[in-house]
Amino acid sequence: MDAAARIKSLRDEIARHNHRYYTLDAPEISDASYDKLMNELSALERENPALVTPDSPTQRVGGAPLEKFTKVTHRQQMLSLANVFDDAELTEFDQRIAEKLGTAAIDYVCEPKMDGLAIELVYEEGRFVQGSTRGDGTIGEDVTANLRTLRNLPLELKGPKAPRLLEVRGEVFIRKADFVKMNEAREKAGEPTFVNPRNCAAGSLRQLDPKLTAQRPLSVYVYEVGVMEGLEFATHVEKLKWLEAAGLPVNPRRYLARGVEGIREAYGKLLADRHGLPYEIDGLVVKTDSEDARKRMGQVSKSPRWAVAYKFPPEEVETQVEKIDVQVGRTGALTPVAYLKPVFVGGVTVSRATLHNEDEVARKDVREGDWVFLRRAGDVIPEIVKVIDSRRTGDEKKFVMPSACPVCGAKVQREEGGAIARCTGDSCPAQLAGGIRHAATRTALDIDGLGDKLVEQLILHGAVKRIADLYALTAEKLMTLERMGEKSAQNLVEAIARSKQTTLRRFIYALGIPQVGEATAKALAEHFMAPAPLMDASQEQLQAVKDVGPEVAGELHAYFAEPKNREGVQALLEAGVDPAPPEKTAAGPFSGKTLVITGTLTKMSRDQAKEEIERRGGKVSGSVSKKTDFLVAGEDAGSKLAKAKELGVKVLDEQQFQALL
Ligand code: IVH
Repeated sequence: MDAAARIKSLRDEIARHNHRYYTLDAPEISDASYDKLMNELSALERENPALVTPDSPTQRVGGAPLEKFTKVTHRQQMLSLANVFDDAELTEFDQRIAEKLGTAAIDYVCEPKMDGLAIELVYEEGRFVQGSTRGDGTIGEDVTANLRTLRNLPLELKGPKAPRLLEVRGEVFIRKADFVKMNEAREKAGEPTFVNPRNCAAGSLRQLDPKLTAQRPLSVYVYEVGVMEGLEFATHVEKLKWLEAAGLPVNPRRYLARGVEGIREAYGKLLADRHGLPYEIDGLVVKTDSEDARKRMGQVSKSPRWAVAYKFPPEEVETQVEKIDVQVGRTGALTPVAYLKPVFVGGVTVSRATLHNEDEVARKDVREGDWVFLRRAGDVIPEIVKVIDSRRTGDEKKFVMPSACPVCGAKVQREEGGAIARCTGDSCPAQLAGGIRHAATRTALDIDGLGDKLVEQLILHGAVKRIADLYALTAEKLMTLERMGEKSAQNLVEAIARSKQTTLRRFIYALGIPQVGEATAKALAEHFMAPAPLMDASQEQLQAVKDVGPEVAGELHAYFAEPKNREGVQALLEAGVDPAPPEKTAAGPFSGKTLVITGTLTKMSRDQAKEEIERRGGKVSGSVSKKTDFLVAGEDAGSKLAKAKELGVKVLDEQQFQALL
């Protein structure tokens, strides 16, 4: 065989293996054999440079790193999907379509809802010319060079007659097994690991240097088309078949469903197979098969009326409790924590779950060695749902709350009538560490770069004995600590200096006074307008503040009665921390109202949204209840949206929210 023929046969073979691995999840050869084929091809191309073509698998990584991504305006808006969470909502969806179309049983195509990020691929005359992220649906970023590195993304379409223009939409993701393998390798190399496949995929696609993207095991599936010239499809099934024939990666798993019955069946099947799937999914996408039906249904602002995402309930997995240990927090509270055999659930690897307090441990009867069900829903912290009694062997060990603080050795006391056991030590390093970490959080003094390990070291070295000591740290001093380079030391010193310009509410919150959360800190700031009057207030004066009852007033009073605490505040002010009093707010649509924010906002972060609401006299709460006035629902809103609908809480989408702001 001559070189040209061998090169062609190697390229075909490599493409076939990429397809088998990334698209069909049915690899035929080992990684080593695959690498051997690639090496042989590279060698042959080096010897015969004239035979190198741009679509060769060796040519996927090319070009220099970018300065920044250029913007791409999508020819046709990239839509997202509305969510349904239960059978009733699903039935409503189906009925709306049946009514509008005047047909009894609608034909649907159901697909796994890939948990990755949406992209658009543009092919001109069959050649891949541009790829972009979804962005806000109208304008995304040009990530062509990065997308070229995805091994199952064809650079040339197959088939005799390529359309002049074809836009395809799909999802970039990372397979679970590839993710685990990559993280293991990174751990070995001493590099930081990724939290979950989705974040890793998103981060990888937004690398300015395509060489970095090429090192990440990204896959892509395509599931829709945008603008196309010279092509027409009557049904979704027909479209998917065409895409497959053109060599595009289409998920082989899909279900044809007739009416709501059919969707239910598909949902059940996919849910049952969920754990066995090689990639992460978070629901079932249901689409009408008929393109004509789609045209007749149309869309609402950002999502089509002809499709919906039927979300899965929060995932539950089994794991084993290896140990139950206590953690000492900033208020001295001892929290039992279950250390678990690491499991992947709800998109992240979980190895710990809080058990809150002694009574909670007793109520759930969780013991060391127990097998348990663990749940994690979206942004919620992992929770042990229950012990699997049938897996008890009798060797499990009951948890006993220690009588001495595991960190400083001081006596542990359970407060009368309460559930919380506390360390009574007054110079406990764990309490101090908790206090410093709290003061540094984003909603307090917002000191970026002050991580847990660092705080621990600072305390261990005696460099920090109270919050104010942070302001005396120098880069030279920080550089004597483990793993602290000049650049990060400098950055941290700058971040600490920046935190001096703060607000009174942040300042009060940063002190970490028991029971004084962000909302109380805000009320105190508005009432007292400066630290001194707050520090000298009597219990009665404190109780005159909105939402401050006898208990909180008692905590505040006790805190400021302690000379050490007063000195701490004084030291902060002397170090140059300058808490600005709040500005008075005018009445508006949010004044006096309680709002909950859920889903992803595109115009601002959740923290920014919260500040904007509070500036207008509103309150932001974490959970939806009857007292909620508005739910601000961003994209991919989950269970909170369902709850709000159930309770009849007024829901604002991002546009409406912006308008009211
Ligand atoms: S179709 C007009 N199909 O889910 C419909 N989307 O919230 C556009 N997704 O932005 C999307 N798997 O990133 C479709 N099989 C699938 C999908 C899928 C995942 C994502 C996509 C979209 C989001 C919708």
